[in-house]
Amino acid sequence: MIGHRSKSFQELYADLQPKLQALFYTKRPVYFSTSSAWGIMEGAIRNLVNKKVLCCANGAFSDKWYDVALRSGKAAELLAFPWGTPVDPEAVRRKLATGDFDALTLIHNETSTGLMNPLWEIAEVMRDFPGVSFIVDTVSSFSVLKIPFDELGIDVMLAGTQKALALPPGAALFSVSERALAKAATVPGRGYYFDFIEFQKNHEKNMTPSTPSIGHFYALRQKLAEISAEGIEARYARHRENAQIVRSWIKDRGFGLFPKEGFASLSLTCASNTRKVDVAKWIQSLRSRFQCVIDGGYGKLKGETFRISHMGDETPQTVRQLLGWLDECLADLS
Ligand SMILES: Cc1ncc(COP(=O)(O)O)c(C=O)c1O
Repeated sequence: MIGHRSKSFQELYADLQPKLQALFYTKRPVYFSTSSAWGIMEGAIRNLVNKKVLCCANGAFSDKWYDVALRSGKAAELLAFPWGTPVDPEAVRRKLATGDFDALTLIHNETSTGLMNPLWEIAEVMRDFPGVSFIVDTVSSFSVLKIPFDELGIDVMLAGTQKALALPPGAALFSVSERALAKAATVPGRGYYFDFIEFQKNHEKNMTPSTPSIGHFYALRQKLAEISAEGIEARYARHRENAQIVRSWIKDRGFGLFPKEGFASLSLTCASNTRKVDVAKWIQSLRSRFQCVIDGGYGKLKGETFRISHMGDETPQTVRQLLGWLDECLADLS
């Protein structure tokens, strides 16, 4: 282990920076937080909401972000869509046009429903509201497809380590635009642990505000080397292929896709259990026969849906192997 105020750590931090900036498609710093994603999701609210935040919601994580905003003592409003239905950019425009808001939260990839929101179209709307901070959770889409922070005009973009980066949980990466950082400096009650100004001050010395999970830095260094060896475009293509394989299998087996047509995620697939199979039994069989798990539906969708992840280190080979095992266990059920 090395000390987090040592020269060795500063070198490690500085070495990762350009590689992380390349993945964020930004010239801005990429900060490292020793917290899971929620730390930065709450932090973004505490740093950037002066007036009122509009929380776009169409799944479990986006619903909860609204609750987190209220618990942080901020004025907040929910812009809700049914689970499985994308956020409508024109509805966002209508709300922001009231002039009531100075921040917006959006979850790009709703992991609970396997839905990807139309980030590009929403970013287009946000261009007309430069006074509204655009806060985007890319927890389960980061490194699955190109998400260009600078080009999209995002103010805060955050990702967790345990999703497509396929690293242990407990750390988050995020970037903050110049205008958002300037705004944060004027917002009272930012606290200390997630104060963006502290992250920036320490970043200038290649350090983090408090003792970081240094193990994650080593893991990130290895992961970034793997991403570079594979090639970023090949990585994106692999995720598209994985998704295609799973979606075809779902349809071939007579299940449906839960999200609205055209909005299915490239990171994971959420299937509707239209065949009414006993999902819990199916997963139990998969676990006991092949020491492997899929998810049996998130929260209120338990049993009505099931989710298959195909992000991170998964390949068409590993995905096909899993689907083969699912077929064997499905045959046992009937
Ligand atoms: C889209 C999304 N946002 C936020 C979170 C919260 O992440 P964490 O529990 O790691 O803080 C998750 C967790 O699965 C998620 O999928």
